[in-house]
Parts: sequence; C-alpha cells; structure tokens
Amino acid sequence: MMACVTSFENEKLSDEYFKAERKLQRNRWADFVNRVKALCDHVAPGNFGGLYETVRPYSMMSRARLRGIYDGIRGLAQRDIPGDFVECGTAKGGCAALMGLASKQQQLSRSLWVFDTFEGLPPPTKDDPDFDLAKAWEGECRGGYDEVQDLFDRLGVLEEITMVKGLFQDTVPTAEVRQIALLHLDGDWYDSTMVCLAHLYDKVSPGGIVQIDDYGHWAGARKALHEFMDARNLDVDLRYLDYSGRQFVKPG
Ligand SMILES: C[S@@+](CC[C@H](N)C(=O)[O-])C[C@H]1O[C@@H](n2cnc3c(N)ncnc32)[C@H](O)[C@@H]1O
Repeated sequence: MMACVTSFENEKLSDEYFKAERKLQRNRWADFVNRVKALCDHVAPGNFGGLYETVRPYSMMSRARLRGIYDGIRGLAQRDIPGDFVECGTAKGGCAALMGLASKQQQLSRSLWVFDTFEGLPPPTKDDPDFDLAKAWEGECRGGYDEVQDLFDRLGVLEEITMVKGLFQDTVPTAEVRQIALLHLDGDWYDSTMVCLAHLYDKVSPGGIVQIDDYGHWAGARKALHEFMDARNLDVDLRYLDYSGRQFVKPG
C-alpha cells in the first residue's frame, strides 16, 4: 500500500513538473515572438507600430501588453463582439488613447469608459500579499484629470470617452456601463481588481476580452483574479502576454 501511494504521489509530482516546464517553454517562446514583433515594428512600423509610438510616452505598459489590447480590439471587430471598451486604471491615459485610436482605425463606434482616481494609486490593503512594497507606491502613477482629458482631445478620441473620477469602490458599482466587449484591469491592488471583477465581469459579452496588466507584477491583482475565478468556477485559458500581462476570452 505504502509503495502504491508513493508511486502515485511521484506520478502526480512529475505530472506537475512537466506541466510547469511546458508552461515555462510556452512563455519563453512568447517572449521571443514579442522581441521579433518589436524588431519588425522598428524596421517597418505597421498599424500597431504607428499607434504605439503615439501613445508610448503616456503609458506605463509594455509594448506586448499594449499590443494585447490592440490585437484584442482587432479580434473583437472581426468576431463582431458587442459592447463598450472599459479601462479601470488609466494613469496618464496612454492605453486608453490606444483603445480609442484602435477603435477608430477599425471603424468601430464604441464608447470607451475610463475609471481612475486621477490622483494616483490609493493605499493597498492587508489583502495585498506584497503590502510593504505596494505601500511605497501610494500616490504614484498619477495622471491628472485635465492632463488626461487634454491628451484625449489632442489625439481626437475625447468624444467617445467617458472619464469617471473617483475610487473604483465608489464609482464602478453604480456605473452606467451596460455591455462590455473589452475590459482592461490595471488597478494594481487586490481591492481595486476585485471590485472591478465583481461588478463588471458579468457585463462582458461572451467572446469578449478581459486583460489584466498586473498579474505577474503585483500579487494582489493575481490573488484577486484567482479568487474570483475559483468562486465562479471559471475555467479559462489565461494567455501569457509577457511576464506581467494576461488575457482571456470570456467563455459562453
Ligand atoms: C499602473 S496605473 C495604470 C496605467 C495605465 N493603464 C497606462 O496605460 O499607463 C494604475 C492606475 O490605477 C488607478 N487606481 C488603482 N486603484 C484604484 C482605485 N481603487 N480607484 C481608482 N483608481 C485606481 C491609479 O490611480 C493609477 O492611475
């Protein structure tokens, strides 16, 4: 009996090991593809390359994660998935501007909602496993309301955008967003991520896209996503964008 249990456990362990190894190899391959794509954009900037250069000074996001948003919007247009585009965590507005510009480029007429304090990151809570590190970021990543509005205006996307100022905890639960095609979660902390999932996920159309920016970077965002997925029994394929970004398609 003892030998039997041990061999079963060994099998389980080696199964886990091979799964982790396969995942690592897939992620390494994705990093390599990202580098090749960046090189191609550099030599001959295509549609994404041009927009990337425009928004880059106003975004903290990596090229791979911005490309995730851009490719996501193209896919939504091709698959004709209904709904608005929503970003929770906008800072200086670079990614939101990309969403607006990509939407125009794809000749989509979608409303875009951006939620932020416009006063920088609120404090993390004890639900953030890396609280001590996170605490040092309080008030950082600030993009002022007028400054962000001015950027949207200069880039010609202001008309489609509704800017909602305040803590997600106060604004998101009562927001008048009806249906969402693309939900971008970039609020870093556990509470910030959880409140958005709790109130916005059900509004995402089946086939719509959810992208989470801080999965690899902040433990609170990762914890919130997994708790939410477990509570809802969600079995989704979390696509690796880069060390921090993940994206999935809402099933159904
Ligand atoms: C990393 S920045 C977003 C970066 C942005 N997407 C870009 O393209 O550079 C995180 C933003 O989330 C906002 N934020 C985080 N938690 C929030 C909350 N609970 N309520 C409102 N805004 C929040 C912060 O104010 C900050 O602007």
